Amino acid sequence: MNDAVPHHVFRYGGDFADAIIERASGALIHDRDGRAILDFTSGQMSAILGHAHPEIVATVRAAIANLDHLHSSFLSTPVLDFTAALAAILPDALSMVLPLSTGGESNEAALRMAKTATGRFEIVAFDRSWHGVTGGASSATFNGARRGNGPTVPGVFALPAPHAYRSPFAAGGVYDWRSELDWGFEMIDRQCVAGLAAAIVEPILSSAGIIEPPPGYLAALAEHCRRRGMLLIFDEAQTGLGRTGTRFAFEHEGVVPDILTLSKTLGAGLPLAATVTSRAIEQRCYDHDYLFYTTHAADPLPAAVGSKVIELLVRDRLEQRARELGGYLRGLLCDLQQRHEAVGDVRGRGLLLGLELVEDRRSKAPAHALGSAVSARCMELGASLNIGRKSHANVFRIAPPLTVTRAQIDTAVSILDQALGELAGRRA
Ligand SMILES: Cc1ncc(COP(=O)(O)O)c(C=O)c1O
Repeated sequence: MNDAVPHHVFRYGGDFADAIIERASGALIHDRDGRAILDFTSGQMSAILGHAHPEIVATVRAAIANLDHLHSSFLSTPVLDFTAALAAILPDALSMVLPLSTGGESNEAALRMAKTATGRFEIVAFDRSWHGVTGGASSATFNGARRGNGPTVPGVFALPAPHAYRSPFAAGGVYDWRSELDWGFEMIDRQCVAGLAAAIVEPILSSAGIIEPPPGYLAALAEHCRRRGMLLIFDEAQTGLGRTGTRFAFEHEGVVPDILTLSKTLGAGLPLAATVTSRAIEQRCYDHDYLFYTTHAADPLPAAVGSKVIELLVRDRLEQRARELGGYLRGLLCDLQQRHEAVGDVRGRGLLLGLELVEDRRSKAPAHALGSAVSARCMELGASLNIGRKSHANVFRIAPPLTVTRAQIDTAVSILDQALGELAGRRA
């Protein structure tokens, strides 16, 4: 064994955390040394019900014993139930569900639907987007590693993400997002060679450091799409299923997309994703020989989990919990901003919050080294508070399970407060 890498796990995304985790329950993960660590990233932004939720455990036990996996041409009772349950909590325009496994896959399926349904191929995505690492999804991802993997899919254009805190269109406290959006589309219209099939966007950009579009933005974006005959795809991998204080983030602005993708939170940590669209688009795709045939499409076991997650979302009013606890947590983070000069911005909605560290509030220079140090110190003190990667290594993405308690929120924030106090120097 190589001393520099004392294990056999390929480093698929830079360095691993030092802790080796043995078990998890609720909002806590426990490492091999018996330490309990608050999980304020919900695993990989997915475990909305916390870990080892008893009803999910029971569902998996029953499902694996009864019906686990099938040939992809079979439908099963769990899949009929899950797709009906999902359609029941979505508007009528989103009633046809393609059940898949991962977020990247759900976006591949969505992009392919848009291309098949419109007969066009060009795609618009935010310049700070993250839609996955598979071919089409990574071509529409501008916030990840674009270099070093050969050519991307042709015909994908970047639209400026509406970042009130850092946009060049924001000056003197006024953010002219409408001009930014119109200018973005003007540039795209000039570059486009055939026709735009779709825009794919996260209603709140998460990997980019929690960027919430200003009120009215998504409606204006939808209007741009409508005028060009393009479809609008919302990627709610992270924002779906109550996280932002409504069941789906699109409800907040009242903009219903043509295609919705769900993953991460849909399986509450287990691999389940879905691409959802209207009956008309589904029919058009079917008529044009749409193909997205994967090994785990419409698998019964994850579908059973999905039904249970939806049942718990509705029964326990998780979106309301996210709204209330999110308001409470946001208040505490704003209090940190009052007391620590390094906290430049607090933003986000529900229990999907961002806290940005800066060198100083005038220059807004990103405090990357401080971000990594504060995140590492929080981990030592017992809270996993994720800092972004590379250009966003100064933004904490704070997203505990929706089942987190107020006491756990208090503990995590006091750990962050202590770490900032020790490492950030000057106080506000
Ligand atoms: C908004 C969004 N879409 C898609 C993905 C990709 O999901 P997966 O990693 O399950 O392929 C992610 C992952 O972080 C994401 O945040």
